[in-house]
Amino acid sequence: MREVKVSREIVEEQLRIAEEYREKSPKGRKFFMECYGCQQNEADSERMSGICELMGYEKTDDKTEASLIIINTCAIREHAELKALSNTGQLKRLKEKDPSLLIGICGCMAQEKHRRDQLKKSYPYVDFLLGTDMIHMLPSVVERAAYGKKRVWAVNDLPHNELGVIAEGLPVKRESKVSGWVSVMYGCNNFCSYCIVPYVRGRERSRNEEDVIREFRELLSSGVKDITLLGQNVNSYRSENGVDFPTLLEHITALEGDFRVRFMTSHPKDCTKRLAETFKNEKMANHFHLPFQSGSSRILELMNRRYDKEKYLEKAMMLKETIPNVALTTDIIIGFPTETEKDFLDTVDVVKKVGFDMSYIFLYSPRVGTRAAVMDDQIPHEVKVERFKYLSNIQNEIARANNERLVGTVQRVLVDGVENGIYTGRSGQNKIVNFSGEGISVGDFCNVEVTEAQAYSILGKKIN
Ligand code: 5AD
Ligand code: SF4
Repeated sequence: MREVKVSREIVEEQLRIAEEYREKSPKGRKFFMECYGCQQNEADSERMSGICELMGYEKTDDKTEASLIIINTCAIREHAELKALSNTGQLKRLKEKDPSLLIGICGCMAQEKHRRDQLKKSYPYVDFLLGTDMIHMLPSVVERAAYGKKRVWAVNDLPHNELGVIAEGLPVKRESKVSGWVSVMYGCNNFCSYCIVPYVRGRERSRNEEDVIREFRELLSSGVKDITLLGQNVNSYRSENGVDFPTLLEHITALEGDFRVRFMTSHPKDCTKRLAETFKNEKMANHFHLPFQSGSSRILELMNRRYDKEKYLEKAMMLKETIPNVALTTDIIIGFPTETEKDFLDTVDVVKKVGFDMSYIFLYSPRVGTRAAVMDDQIPHEVKVERFKYLSNIQNEIARANNERLVGTVQRVLVDGVENGIYTGRSGQNKIVNFSGEGISVGDFCNVEVTEAQAYSILGKKIN
């Protein structure tokens, strides 16, 4: 098997370079980090922020005062790429004002050859590119960009079937004191025909269970109480010594403490009864995100999803039967090549039959290098938008109706903020709850009686 673990010597050398850099560089420098895309990218940004701090930079939310700017990009849809490129373009003026400013682009877009070429050629003020499996190399890349006076291209140009590493022992600067995430596996082997992720994030690889549990415990001891286990395909987790995802969940929920566990994202093929049964443990949040992408069995086959409409409905119903009061959420792609009105109505049918609490509905976006991008019969943008609006309205009504059924119930809410005397937090179902009450602090679990429902949040008051 290909070696995916980055050796401890390499990581330690990078940490040493980071510390030397801090010592030899001027004090008081700041870094600005911008992040697009999924939670995996957020988790990567937190690692890079940790490394930047070790290098002596302090975090700032104002890019005009930064001496290092990093943009962590997403490649999942064209929209995300164009936004990142446009924001990169705006950095030109900052670089003209301060030529010592360092600008780096990392993440999934840096992993695409055509975008790399574009960045190198048309964005001469970008100092470095950093691939998705090069995060641990950030210290030497920044060091070379700052002192080597040369642009640095740190992207593994390997074919996608060789891509992907695991680097342990990197510092991390977490954004929230209340909720956090732990990556348990990286990459994806599914090759859904529309998706760029397998090409930019490489093959599936799982962290050791001890490393996952150690990080989980660290989060718990820093007071974090709502922890999401992350992976592009999280329930394909399998450690080298054979621990599968349900077993990992059982071990994690057996840890001491008052906390809640979630995970994302799941593929229906790995959504088993055994996985659903792990939710018997009260530390499992009663929320399950299960993307179905399309309700048409014909489109699902073209998408290479390996299930059909009936099989998906079966899984969703199994989750509803096994997990009391589960909130189901999903991802849907509208306008995959060849999608007819009839195919679309199958998607609408699944939304109605399952009654999701939330659907993330995306317009299909062709990705260079994927199979779907070269299929005939691409759907016109106006048709996609029309179908999107129709489905969004239906989904909003369902979400509101689901929330109305919660009025009068008591939800356990983890408080994550307060504004003008109104507290806000998340329920186990991952709903936003705004509520009033006394003697509450951010980071507490509170019992809240629901008094009013909106489509994507609920209102209530604390009870004792
Ligand atoms: N176009 C539109 N949406 C996509 N997704 C993945 N690839 C594409 C694409 N090419 C969506 C899927 C996935 C979510 C993270 O993004 O619904 O589940
Ligand atoms: Fe975007 Fe996917 Fe990369 Fe996440 S893994 S940053 S969603 S392309």
